Amino acid sequence: MSKHSSLLRMALALIFVASDYCSAFASTEINLIPKPIRMEQTSGCFQLTAKSTISYDATLRDQAEYLQQVLNQSTGWELALKEDARKATIHLSLNSEARIQPEGYLLSVTPKGVTIEGKDKGGIFYGIQTLLQLFPPEIYSDKRQRNIAWTAPAVSIYDAPNRPWRGMMLDVARYFYDKEFVKKYIDMMAMYKLNKLQLHLIDDSGWRLEIKKYPRLTEVGAWAGTDQHRLGGFYTQEEIKEMIAYGAVRNVEIIPEIEFPAHILSAIVAYPWLSCTGLQHEVPTQHFISKDLLCAGKESSIQFLRDVLEETVELFPSSYINIGGDEANYTRWESCPYCQAVIKREGLKEASELQGYLTNIVAEMMKGKNRTVVGWEEILMRGEVRTPVVGVFWHNVADTILATRTGHKAILTPATHMYFDFPESQTPGEVKAATWMPPISLEKCYGMEVNDYSPESTVIGVQGCFWSDQFIHGTILQEIDYLNENRSENYAEYFTFPRLLALSEIAWTARSARNYPDFCQRLSSHFPRLDFKNCHYRVPEPRIEQMESTPDGTLKFTLSTPVAGAQIHYTTDGSYPSVHSPLYTGPVEVIDKSDFHAITVVNPRHYSLPIYFAPDYSAYKQYGIYTTEWKPLIIQPHMVPWKFECTGKISGNGNYTISFIPTKGESSLKLGKLKLYKRDELLTETTQPTVSDTQAAITTYSFTVNDFEAGTPFYIEVEACGKDGNDTSGLVFILKKEQ
Ligand code: ACM
Ligand code: ZN
Repeated sequence: MSKHSSLLRMALALIFVASDYCSAFASTEINLIPKPIRMEQTSGCFQLTAKSTISYDATLRDQAEYLQQVLNQSTGWELALKEDARKATIHLSLNSEARIQPEGYLLSVTPKGVTIEGKDKGGIFYGIQTLLQLFPPEIYSDKRQRNIAWTAPAVSIYDAPNRPWRGMMLDVARYFYDKEFVKKYIDMMAMYKLNKLQLHLIDDSGWRLEIKKYPRLTEVGAWAGTDQHRLGGFYTQEEIKEMIAYGAVRNVEIIPEIEFPAHILSAIVAYPWLSCTGLQHEVPTQHFISKDLLCAGKESSIQFLRDVLEETVELFPSSYINIGGDEANYTRWESCPYCQAVIKREGLKEASELQGYLTNIVAEMMKGKNRTVVGWEEILMRGEVRTPVVGVFWHNVADTILATRTGHKAILTPATHMYFDFPESQTPGEVKAATWMPPISLEKCYGMEVNDYSPESTVIGVQGCFWSDQFIHGTILQEIDYLNENRSENYAEYFTFPRLLALSEIAWTARSARNYPDFCQRLSSHFPRLDFKNCHYRVPEPRIEQMESTPDGTLKFTLSTPVAGAQIHYTTDGSYPSVHSPLYTGPVEVIDKSDFHAITVVNPRHYSLPIYFAPDYSAYKQYGIYTTEWKPLIIQPHMVPWKFECTGKISGNGNYTISFIPTKGESSLKLGKLKLYKRDELLTETTQPTVSDTQAAITTYSFTVNDFEAGTPFYIEVEACGKDGNDTSGLVFILKKEQ
């Protein structure tokens, strides 16, 4: 046999093995998120090998290098890059045909090779992301993965986004996430085709952007606390440039948020002359919304704004500049002679209209630099704004009608659905988080309506927000073992994922193609992808499919998990289940339903909170919301203070009652002075219980809250001791009185 023919036979055998392998072992299941517009699966698969090459049109070198790096890291190969080589295995090219929309792409995967054609660089990048979702999840690993069949099912896809703005806001001001974390966040956004990162760089508790003309902003304003308790940080202009370049390759535009007139105490601490009063303050070490505003009347503070924006525009190439603008309390402007002089000069009716006055100055300045101003919805609600701007609507999305009727544009980020610093549930053990709104489950988030509310309005997109006021170190995060290292960063991921995947589909995929059960089915295969990206996420709890009473008085539970391929582990003795608890293989019987707990286990590092049955407090409805309970163990024979948290039960200013209701025991609970704290600040104290239901031994105190602040922890401290023993247990409820 000639050398040639044996080589030919070997080659044929290899081809046979490869194609046979494709049909026999490779996964042909496709679970793309976000769901593409059109997809047609064909037979066979594409197999990546060490000899595969990537070619690209000259302008697409960054995208080709990106793909090469992702593939090289996980496969351990060194795939070759070739400019303009049509014969390569994977080819990236621009296609200006009108049928491809901006950021759209055509992806063709066949056993012979892959082509990605995009309208623009963004489209190419998204074709690459879709291709990566077709490969096994190990493709995302930054370490070599051995013995993997690097195959992708053959498919033909046409895809493009439904809306041009698919954003996330990351609050790096309340908690400083370093450059590497921001880059990881960008990478995760890009994986799911989000394209705008609003960096919330400034807030009362920190200024995070180096401004050369005002060095004290970062020398002073970026730091809170002293000595070993000093916290904070900032990005140098070089670091900002690095993050911008990193985002640009990934089609993520970083939009700086230069917040004013409120949430700017960190700058006022650095330069007290910026405020109306000129008083010296400190950078707060806890969540705090300052009443001090940038003075709208002094020429020096307007010049400061111009200077800061000038440097910001030089640094950030983004076509949008965000100017914040939320939650200003205008009392300082009402009593400031400089601000009052401008109100008079401009013929304004009230102090709040000074915000519109400032917005007009800045929007005009930005227009002169070819940039568009974006800001929270308040920028459109405080007097007429003449230059077209974009409002980010976080309260009532229907208000977009008002904004867009006058020629402005809108982005939807309703706190009810898009604020990922709210927990997903009230399940015990859920990480404590923002409480001024109900939890936002994955399903609720996915169900957010995106429409234009009126024919003339222009909603350009959707945005998620991740606020960090709960993440300032030392606050009330709970312990979840696998999140405890670098806890703020890990919790940020835990809160963001998987809701960011829901956001991705809401923003990218047309309403008519969205379906929650279908999304959940596709979601399961993304958890291993997040694992290979080293990204934390919240695992959905098991579902109870059936709960039956049996003739012998037990209860029989039938469960399922929304995560395909995950396991369920359970307990029947009331204890908290772990990955070592019994494995669910079929219906489980228990005597008392409150003894049953079960978790979804995706892998030993990622498992859900337990499903459980909450006690029924409906008999105590008239006493308000369940707040806490006491047990014999905490009761002493002499008066001692007992402190517990009541964040979320205090929901605004108003009159409240708090009731202590004994439920068990021969002895009774004697109560003394009761104090209400907002974080460490004593708000009110009361000695006399005002109502006492003597028969049921219920003790009730009344108190008033005048200084409510959203997102701030509240505590009750009450003096308590046992009377005639300490065997009592009971429940505590808080009721907000109707005004
Ligand atoms: C906001 O939540 N203050 C925009
Ligand atoms: Zn002023």
